[in-house]
Amino acid sequence: MIVVLMARACNIHSNRDGDLLPAQRSIAMISEMIHTASLVHDDVIDGADMRRGKTTINEVWGERKAILAGDFILSAASTALARIGNTAVVSVLSQVIEDLVRGEFMQLGSKENENERFKHYLEKTFKKTASLIANSCKAVSILVSSDPEVHEIAYQYGRNVGIAFQLVDDVLDFTSCANQLGKPSAADLRLGLATGPVLFACQQFPELHSMIMRRFGSDGDVDRAWRYVLESDGVEQTSFLAQRYCHEATRQISRLQPSPERDALIRLTELVLSRDK
Ligand code: FPP
Ligand code: MG
Repeated sequence: MIVVLMARACNIHSNRDGDLLPAQRSIAMISEMIHTASLVHDDVIDGADMRRGKTTINEVWGERKAILAGDFILSAASTALARIGNTAVVSVLSQVIEDLVRGEFMQLGSKENENERFKHYLEKTFKKTASLIANSCKAVSILVSSDPEVHEIAYQYGRNVGIAFQLVDDVLDFTSCANQLGKPSAADLRLGLATGPVLFACQQFPELHSMIMRRFGSDGDVDRAWRYVLESDGVEQTSFLAQRYCHEATRQISRLQPSPERDALIRLTELVLSRDK
């Protein structure tokens, strides 16, 4: 939906009608396919048994078939991308696949130093979540405009909305219950991950540092860390940071000519912040 709206907003900005070009429609589909493939693989890495309220592929068919299913979706996406026949677009969307894998690798490691840790978290967040949105938005802008400023607006909107989306996701892992999410909550701590709320909480409760370093692996760590986070203002601070990214997304997209699609992208930043599942 974001990619379709961005395509229409860029088309109108370039003094055309809003109708999608066939290649822009393909980008929206390819983007969704890369996203789906990455989630199928992610559920294997995380050992997840539920996604969007349904049993995961790895749970039903086993890990080997789930990995191959993800690869198959990615191969179909690659074929569709090649068919567009635009090398700039191929390189922008290939960057997404590299970023997804690097982001997932970054998540497997942790940083000792607290300043480095937050930087590492934001960089991982960009690669794992925001790069797909940023580069897909950029790709549809390239197809209609040769102006690098328009490409940058599309990219920056996607980057900021994407980071905000993941920050909210990290908050919901603490504040929403499994029924609402359609996937288990407190999952991040159980996976050993220190996300925004924990990193902010650690500034108030330095006791969290050693738990973060051992990836909440000792008996009782998950429960203790959970309580520290809820006693701290880590959830509020992470939500506040998400708001700042959404404001920046709005500022960027407002540089395009007015259109209903541009306004929908602005409203979308509010939905990102208010969602509860
Ligand atoms: C969800 O994270 C995971 C991602 C957004 C990216 C996963 C990327 C890979 C597994 C690399 C392989 C990529 C491709 C293209 C096949 P999460 O676990 O924080 O979110 P969740 O709670 O929804 O599972
Ligand atoms: Mg996961």
